[in-house]
Amino acid sequence: MDKQKQIVEMFDDIASSYDLANRVLSFGVDVKWRKEGCAKSLERLGRSEGLRVADIACGTGDMILHWQNALGRGCEFVGIDPSEQMLEVAKKKLSNTTFIQAQAQEIPLKSESVDIVSIAYGLRNVCGYQDALKEFYRVLKKGGVLLILEFTHNPSPSLFEKGAKFYTQKILPLIGGLISKNLKAYQYLPNSIEAFASTQELREELEKVGFVNVWSKSYSAKLSTLFLATKE
Ligand SMILES: C[S@@+](CC[C@H](N)C(=O)[O-])C[C@H]1O[C@@H](n2cnc3c(N)ncnc32)[C@H](O)[C@@H]1O
Repeated sequence: MDKQKQIVEMFDDIASSYDLANRVLSFGVDVKWRKEGCAKSLERLGRSEGLRVADIACGTGDMILHWQNALGRGCEFVGIDPSEQMLEVAKKKLSNTTFIQAQAQEIPLKSESVDIVSIAYGLRNVCGYQDALKEFYRVLKKGGVLLILEFTHNPSPSLFEKGAKFYTQKILPLIGGLISKNLKAYQYLPNSIEAFASTQELREELEKVGFVNVWSKSYSAKLSTLFLATKE
């Protein structure tokens, strides 16, 4: 089976316990990162009404919930994910959202049709993620904003950052494995972080695709990083 198919099947398998595991493993701090991402994107865009937002790799819909809280009237929300089971959970949690089962490498939306594209902890799971960056650029309107939240690879961690890495590599898989009863899925998480781009590499890839004003901020011993970029 190809790698991308295996990844999506893994998310199908853990969908029912995903939200609980997420809150426990992140101690709830991801809420702050998501809120800050929404606020900074809207500041950059300069408006919050009548927007069309596409959340890619939407999973169980947490990022869309944050957009719905942050945005004003007349906004449209589209959630895209290839995992049928993750989408099933999202559909039960969210209203006023259109869901599409699709991959980030081939987004079934018209070019220049979206004001904001977001992807939270999804890009690492996209095989050939550079193709997805091109798709984000294509579907964004001119002036549109891309938000990425991701666990990037840290090639030269400080002593403190090594401690945080120990948590994600050794402790998190055990707790996640217990909650989801799928140890393999939570062993995949630290491995996928190590195999993914560093913050600097991802910034360079965004610029290569044509994004401007690429900005990033790292949180929690550089475990999680928020990226913002604009389509000129
Ligand atoms: C760690 S979850 C993140 C879910 C959600 N965005 C959140 O913030 O909680 C990763 C998601 O990426 C999705 N995914 C995997 N491969 C993908 C692909 N090629 N394109 C888009 N999404 C993908 C999975 O199905 C899963 O829902």
